Amino acid sequence: GPNIPLANVKAHLTQLQSIATANGGNRAHGQPGYLASVNYVRGRLDAAGYTTAVQSFSYGGATGYNLIADWPGGDTTNTVIVGAHLDSVAAGPGINDNGSGSAAILEVALEVARQGITPTRHLRFAWWGAEERGLIGSDFYVDSLSAAARANIEAYYNFDMVGSPNPGYFLYDGDNSDGTGAGPGPAGSALLEAVLAEYFTSIGVPTEGTDFDGRSDYGPFIAAGIPAGGTFTGAEGRKTAAQATKWGGSSGVAYDVCYHRSCDTTTNINDTALDRNADAIAYAVWNVAVSPPAPPA
Ligand code: PHE
Ligand code: ZN
Ligand code: ZN
Ligand code: ZN
Repeated sequence: GPNIPLANVKAHLTQLQSIATANGGNRAHGQPGYLASVNYVRGRLDAAGYTTAVQSFSYGGATGYNLIADWPGGDTTNTVIVGAHLDSVAAGPGINDNGSGSAAILEVALEVARQGITPTRHLRFAWWGAEERGLIGSDFYVDSLSAAARANIEAYYNFDMVGSPNPGYFLYDGDNSDGTGAGPGPAGSALLEAVLAEYFTSIGVPTEGTDFDGRSDYGPFIAAGIPAGGTFTGAEGRKTAAQATKWGGSSGVAYDVCYHRSCDTTTNINDTALDRNADAIAYAVWNVAVSPPAPPA
C-alpha cells in the first residue's frame, strides 16, 4: 500500500479543531460543529471525484448525519466499507476521538483518488454520526440496508482513536486469538485482522488484540454478520509496564489522558501512532479492496 502523508492527515485535524473552536468547542451530535465537520469532509471528497451522500437520522431531538462516499467503479456485489465516527463528545473538540480516524480514512480516500485507480472491489468510505450517543448513526445505516445490499458488503473496517498520545497498537481480535472476552467476529474477520497484522509486522511494531466489546461502530456490522476489523490506539485504559517496554510511552498512564475531555485537541496526538495507522489503513484498503491477491484457483 502507499505511504499516506502524515502532514495531510494533520492538516485535516487542524481543520476539525478550527471547526470546533468556531462552534462552541465541540463537534457533537446536534451541535453546529458536527454539520460543519460533515461539510468539510464532504467538500474534500467531492473535489476529488467521490460520489457523496448524506444520510439523515433523528436522535435525542436533533438531526444526525452519516456521510457516505463511494469511489466509482469496482464490483458493487463485493463492497468494502471503511468507516470512522466523525462526532465528538460535547466536552471537547474530539481530535483523537475521533478526528484521528476520520482524518486518516479521509486521506486514504484522497490517495485512492490521486492514484486514479479502479479497485477490484467497490470501495465506500463512511463517517458516522452520533457514535458517542450509542453507535446511533452506524446502527441506522446498517438497519437502512436491504438484505441484498447487506449481502453485498464483504468487509467493514473501523478506525476509532488511532493517534492516542500514549499509544498502544491494538487490532480488533477477529479470530479471538487471545481466547478471552468477546468471541470472534463473523467469519472473514480473522483475515481482516491478519492483513493489518501483516502491515505492523512489516514495520516491526508488535500488536495486541482488542475485543469486539461493542464500543465502536463495528458493532452493528458484526451484529449483521458482516466481517469487521480495524485498529485502535487506546482510550481510558492504562498502559501496562510490559506494554511500555515494547511500545515505549508511559507505564501506568492512560493511553489517552484527554479521552472525552476538553483537552482532546490537536496537541493530544502522537504523530508516530497516527502515521503508522494511516499507512496501515492504506495497506488494508489496497490488499482487501484495491488489488486483493487472486483467490486460489
Ligand atoms: N468508541 C469509544 C468512544 O468513541 C472508544 C473506543 C474505541 C473504545 C474502540 C474501545 C474500542 O468513546
Ligand atoms: Zn468517544
Ligand atoms: Zn470514538
Ligand atoms: Zn486475533
